[in-house]
Amino acid sequence: MNYIQTNGGVRVWDPFIRIFHWSLVSCVLLNYFVIDDGESLHQWIGYTASALVVARIFWGFVGSKHARFADFFPTPARLKQHLQRVISGQPDTHPGHNPVGALMMLALIALVLALGVSGYMQSLDAFWGEEWLQEVHELLGTTLISLAGLHAAAAIIMSRVERTNLIGAMFSGVKVRRGVTSSR
Ligand code: HEM
Ligand code: HEM
Repeated sequence: MNYIQTNGGVRVWDPFIRIFHWSLVSCVLLNYFVIDDGESLHQWIGYTASALVVARIFWGFVGSKHARFADFFPTPARLKQHLQRVISGQPDTHPGHNPVGALMMLALIALVLALGVSGYMQSLDAFWGEEWLQEVHELLGTTLISLAGLHAAAAIIMSRVERTNLIGAMFSGVKVRRGVTSSR
């Protein structure tokens, strides 16, 4: 699938990305706020989150245009250009992730993987009952939730700045700019 123009909007997120996102959100919120006892359900949900991220990384090489790392990978040059534009008050909208959003995306998926690894390590004889590992796992979880909160807030703020319902686009796949009849 490519950069398809639809009536009044741009199709950016393929179904895989949307299912991945909301499934990942559910797993992380459940494990952090509801089932945080470390028992088997917690472990299964945690491994599901890690498996979703592994599938997402694969999709980052073979998926649709805006799903690919090549489309949004936050290289120093892209970050510099984006920040320069934002600081000078010029709009710098991207159909897919902007470089700062991409940096956050990479941090979020890395934290989910680190939670999977630290969770798995807790089930090994070699680390059984190790308090430092439990603390690392908890710290990773708290960092993930804090960054996810920041990420959600940024999505709300950027939706206003860009006059585009970014959250709605994570459900529909289509970014529609308010007040613009034809697509970007
Ligand atoms: C989305 C991924 C995950 C999140 C957000 C998460 C989060 C948490 C949180 C918040 C706690 C409670 C920490 C505390 O208050 O002491 C916890 C405990 C625990 N988690 Fe996870 N976890 C995840 C994945 C996993 C995985 C994949 C395993 C695999 C085995 C795992 C194993 C455990 C265990 C054994 C504990 C109990 C640690 C203790 O006794 O304090 N977690 N996790
Ligand atoms: C635990 C919570 C969350 C995690 C781990 C998370 C993770 C992610 C990841 C990994 C992406 C990149 C999607 C991809 O390219 O595959 C993403 C994008 C996105 N997320 Fe979240 N997310 C969380 C919560 C939320 C919430 C609560 C909202 C809504 C308020 C939200 C709104 C968005 C939006 C709008 C995008 C696309 C941003 C853009 O247009 O560039 N996320 N999220």
